[in-house]
Amino acid sequence: MFSPGPFTRLLSALLLLQNARAALQPVNIPIEVYYNGTELQWYGPIQVGTPPQNFSVVFDTGSYDFLIPFNTCESCSNQRRFDPSLSSTFEDTGDGIYIQFGTGVGVEPVQGDEWVVVTETVKETVTVGGLSAPETIVELITMQSPAFAPDPFDGIVGLAAEQGSFMSSLVQQGLDPLFALHLADHTSSGSQLTLGGIDESKLGKPPTYIHTAFDGMALWTFNTTGISVNGHSLELDPQLKIIFDSGTPNVLFTPNLAEAAYAAMSSEIQPNADFPGAYGVACDRIGSLPAVIDLSFVDAAGAPFNLTIPSSELNIGPFRTDPSQCQTLINAGNQFSPFVVVGASLLKHYYSVWDMGNHRMGFSAYEP
Ligand SMILES: *[C@@H]1O[C@H](CO)[C@@H](O)[C@H](O)[C@H]1NC(C)=O
Ligand SMILES: *[C@@H]1O[C@H](CO)[C@@H](O)[C@H](O)[C@H]1NC(C)=O
Ligand SMILES: *[C@@H]1O[C@H](CO)[C@@H](O)[C@H](O)[C@H]1NC(C)=O
Ligand SMILES: *[C@@H]1O[C@H](CO)[C@@H](O)[C@H](O)[C@H]1NC(C)=O
Repeated sequence: MFSPGPFTRLLSALLLLQNARAALQPVNIPIEVYYNGTELQWYGPIQVGTPPQNFSVVFDTGSYDFLIPFNTCESCSNQRRFDPSLSSTFEDTGDGIYIQFGTGVGVEPVQGDEWVVVTETVKETVTVGGLSAPETIVELITMQSPAFAPDPFDGIVGLAAEQGSFMSSLVQQGLDPLFALHLADHTSSGSQLTLGGIDESKLGKPPTYIHTAFDGMALWTFNTTGISVNGHSLELDPQLKIIFDSGTPNVLFTPNLAEAAYAAMSSEIQPNADFPGAYGVACDRIGSLPAVIDLSFVDAAGAPFNLTIPSSELNIGPFRTDPSQCQTLINAGNQFSPFVVVGASLLKHYYSVWDMGNHRMGFSAYEP
């Protein structure tokens, strides 16, 4: 889930990376997919406290914070909630934060404060796949907006590139500063997060690496050399950057870019009046529309490199208000945003390596 987030804690995260101790072995965490018309989110198990209390969390590269419900949170009653009175390692900091997400759990464009949490900041021991990190900053949710209630997971763990208490805590324990994601679709099993390494058994072709736009960039942000739809290249602001967000199912463009992309697909695709920023087309037509999106980069070796979203990703499921109409992949967001947000509709097609230590991402295509 895309959250513009604070940049202030950047420095402490960098210092933690530099203090890394002897290597811990990588671990594989099996994760599962939340499917509702399309694959929405991938989530997996994590433990907090001593003795450990179990939670399931979305592993979200588009945000910063480690969020799980507090047992005082009434709006979190569908989720498991953390009980500090059962933990011997609980430490309250007296602080708290407010987070407003720019993309939600589902596919519809976010309106205002639809996806919001309020937290109390604590320090706790966090355990994942047998790796344990004491004194990790955990944001305990004291209030969440109603949109979160139906979620099958309890919380969200931010995996932003530079800040993020979770990875920096594990790195301080000696884990290599990288992780990798295999996001399988809902018809396959085997989705997996690997912390501290790459699982060769999930890899397709050897990964191609691209450097983050700036060293020390907080989110996973990259310069693009072009975006093409069905081979037509879109006119881009030269400053435009692409953010990869594992916690977003679809693609978020500026309104002008969304219009241009859909014009290169079909005039049948039109804005949906019920959901500002969303587009759709008759469900019985959507399967026949070509919608290949190529995102172009210069790779770490200086060669041109494309990542491709295939036409099969165009359909993200019927609209609640009119199931004869199907929503299309690209949402239109803020006209002035210098970012395009690209989520699971692309990441599903590659094994992705998120390399914090080297400020780069690797992509390995599964298909020959
Ligand atoms: C799926 O989405 C519909 C409508 O968008 C919602 O009413 C329903 O609760 C969701 N189901 C699950 C299992 O999340
Ligand atoms: C936490 O989950 C593990 C694995 O599913 C289970 O063995 C354990 O009993 C659970 N602990 C609690 C306190 O529910
Ligand atoms: C990305 O573009 C910015 C200008 O917007 C430039 O300063 C930076 O060096 C570029 N980074 C890479 C890795 O090309
Ligand atoms: C990337 O995609 C564009 C547009 O489809 C195409 O013109 C170009 O040849 C592709 N580049 C590579 C390296 O595949």
